[in-house]
Amino acid sequence: MPTRKLGLLIGAEEEDWPSALEALFRRHTPVASVGGEPLNVQVERVRVHPFDLRADTSYHVVVDRLGHWQLHPREWLKKAALFNGVYLVNNPFTFQSMEKHSAYAAMMRLGIHVPKTWLIPLKSYPDRPGYQDTANRYYDWFDLPAIGGEEFGYPLYMKPFDGGGWRGVSRIGNTAELMDAYNASGQTMMHLQAALEGFDVFVRALGIGPQIRPMHYDPSKPFHERYVPDRNFLSPEKTLEMTRITKVINAFFRWEINSCEAILKDGLLQPIDYANACPDMHLISLHVNFPWAVKSLLAWTTFCLATDRRMRLDMNMADYFAIADSERSYDEKLAAYEVLADAYFETERFDEFRHKQLGWLDEAMWEFVQSAEFDGILQGIVRDKFPAHEFDHFVYHYRTMMREWVQSNA
Ligand SMILES: Nc1ncnc2c1ncn2[C@@H]1O[C@H](COP(=O)(O)OP(=O)(O)OP(=O)(O)O)[C@@H](O)[C@H]1O
Ligand SMILES: [Mg+2]
Repeated sequence: MPTRKLGLLIGAEEEDWPSALEALFRRHTPVASVGGEPLNVQVERVRVHPFDLRADTSYHVVVDRLGHWQLHPREWLKKAALFNGVYLVNNPFTFQSMEKHSAYAAMMRLGIHVPKTWLIPLKSYPDRPGYQDTANRYYDWFDLPAIGGEEFGYPLYMKPFDGGGWRGVSRIGNTAELMDAYNASGQTMMHLQAALEGFDVFVRALGIGPQIRPMHYDPSKPFHERYVPDRNFLSPEKTLEMTRITKVINAFFRWEINSCEAILKDGLLQPIDYANACPDMHLISLHVNFPWAVKSLLAWTTFCLATDRRMRLDMNMADYFAIADSERSYDEKLAAYEVLADAYFETERFDEFRHKQLGWLDEAMWEFVQSAEFDGILQGIVRDKFPAHEFDHFVYHYRTMMREWVQSNA
């Protein structure tokens, strides 16, 4: 098998997981063998420049972390998928057309326990000819205090319909706060969502291909302490449910690196945020989960390269809706959705590939985390993210966490 090329389209995280991923690929060449032939993977950072829509490309798979935020790279990705047949992780089409709002609506249809959510019209209209006239003609007056106080009750959350990075998210405690938040929302379209408070546990699951890792999460902590390092914080039943929900969301929308946040309250696992085109992959926030993320990304991209996996640009929502509309129970539906999700991800084939071809990966990551190269990455990120006077403190902190990871995985 000839050399295959993996592109990384990176934003502001260049010396973070991308450096670790590249190092891991470098440390084990060939990465696998396919049909008795070595599979060499060349990893390259994708650069942005003008392009001919009919141009060839040398990439086979591209991991995208930028297209969601920047227009030109996004449109290059679409051309690469449509014209060149490049396999993209993630799918820019469904992220653009079905952000948080559609993801809520679709998962509600599947019977997932998404909290009650309303969409309210813009506070300020864009200054475009015709907009105001149309609004005058067709937009109904509405009583926001009544929606807040009677439909929801306080507290509630107001947050942008497309979400991302906690931008514009507010917890609303009364009518005055509701009006203030709405007035401040301007041209950002907002959801109102029932607040889930006094909950048992907050879980954030990262999904990379069919690999899902539920992690204990504490949103009340500062950024670098939000992932709680304990592993047994969910019962086996809820772990299975969380895994299934995340995998089903990702297969449904063709999102192959995504995170799902859910709150377990009153026995119900209730997802609140699960359309994240660039889920957090930083070493300083994921810490002991970081090796899992890098290994999983290597495994999934290698599988896609080795099996020449074709990108599915179409969707099979109707298959999911047929299950949703059937007489099955919630658990039975979730199990049936998972069958569809596993078919999409070729989970069985992937598991076998990882087991047979990537058996070296666990040990290689374990050794890498103990290397001077990894320590250099760690120091670089700490230098980048924390003030100079906290450098020593945080280098010590993360070294200690990673040493604990090494010991518990020995
Ligand atoms: N319905 C809710 N009930 C309780 N807490 C909520 C609710 N909605 C949002 N929050 C809190 O606000 C935070 C940010 O909300 P959310 O995750 O929906 O926004 P986001 O901008 O998409 O965030 P992210 O950076 O994770 O993409 C959540 O992590 C959670 O702590
Ligand atoms: Mg969130």
